[in-house]
Amino acid sequence: MPAQGGFLRNRIQAPIDVAVIGGGVIGLAVAWRARQRGFTVTVLERGELGGGSTRVAAGMLAPIAEADPSEAALLELGLASLRSYPSFIEQLTRASGREAGYLRCGTLLVARDRDEAESLSRELEMRTSLGLPVQRLRASEARGLEPGLAPTIRLALLVADDHAIDPRTLTAALGGALARAGGELRTGAEVRELELSDGGEDAHRVVLAGGERISARRVVIAAGVWSAEIEGIPDHCRVPVRPVKGQIMRLRDPAGPALLTRVIRMAAGYIVPRGDGRYVLGATMEERGFDTTVTAGAVFELLRDAIELVPGFSELVIEELSAGLRPGTPDNCPVIGESEISGLYWATGHHRNGILLAPITAELLVGELAGEQPSELAAGFAPGRFAHAAAESAP
Ligand code: GLY
Repeated sequence: MPAQGGFLRNRIQAPIDVAVIGGGVIGLAVAWRARQRGFTVTVLERGELGGGSTRVAAGMLAPIAEADPSEAALLELGLASLRSYPSFIEQLTRASGREAGYLRCGTLLVARDRDEAESLSRELEMRTSLGLPVQRLRASEARGLEPGLAPTIRLALLVADDHAIDPRTLTAALGGALARAGGELRTGAEVRELELSDGGEDAHRVVLAGGERISARRVVIAAGVWSAEIEGIPDHCRVPVRPVKGQIMRLRDPAGPALLTRVIRMAAGYIVPRGDGRYVLGATMEERGFDTTVTAGAVFELLRDAIELVPGFSELVIEELSAGLRPGTPDNCPVIGESEISGLYWATGHHRNGILLAPITAELLVGELAGEQPSELAAGFAPGRFAHAAAESAP
């Protein structure tokens, strides 16, 4: 009976506690932690779970290798999330009954020539001055750890605490844990618009592309680069998120997992092992809007650099070429917390660090959902820091 079906779909249901827009690792981690705190939760994902930027991400957990002294707050957030990863994964594995793809492998930063070695020495000084645990290795010591490295390498830094995780396996574990805990997961649910309540007892409404309205006391926008496309949010509450393209490839070694055991970082990219003979090689950084094409030049440069550094890479089988869109913000930092509209929260803009920052984002945001005072750590990432700029740039 189509008429009644349509009526039921458009009827306003009793409000749920939390609607999370976006089913990538950030949205799923927030939803799972919120459900653990007793909230009723629905995740609304426009495609497949983890089918956006999460699916393309390499999964490095690398705040130390990626440290930038001009981004001290981001470094502190990344280190806090890195520290919380082991217990997050342990709880997730128990809650979902699945492995999460976590590999405590460490990272090597490698220089191929004298210029890169000088640059790496400066990188070491900077990290040492910040108190970060990094060890200088001679080329022979690095090759002792990773015999697959070329004999021509000049210098390496060992970052024993930076690890990796497979974002696709992590997605499945988060989705499984959320479903087991009684959270609702809706895929193919594209959000068109928010009808925001102006306070009091009224709930917000999330309007889907097909017209269905979902009533929710709290709405969390965790839709990565698509966060900025949702209609119905006043300009002064918007956050400026833009896509930063990364081309990346996935390869497999038919000979097994022996070629590399650690993440390898080179001047313009990285190789991330999965521990089972699969590798991810990435990634470009490009400002090209929502373009996700894969180009011959990018693939050539990534492979050229990887094979120069790890000659055995030339024997690998290419399994996948793809391009993802990192959600970048003007200060490269994520946006975590409640907006100026009561009950509207952001968890987006994680740029190069979405997988790393999922546990700490969920912890900070769910604390706010539960009415706790934002912690000092969260202060630097509050959405309000963009309010002025967004209002000024409005027509
Ligand atoms: N986190 C690595 C990248 O965004 O390429």
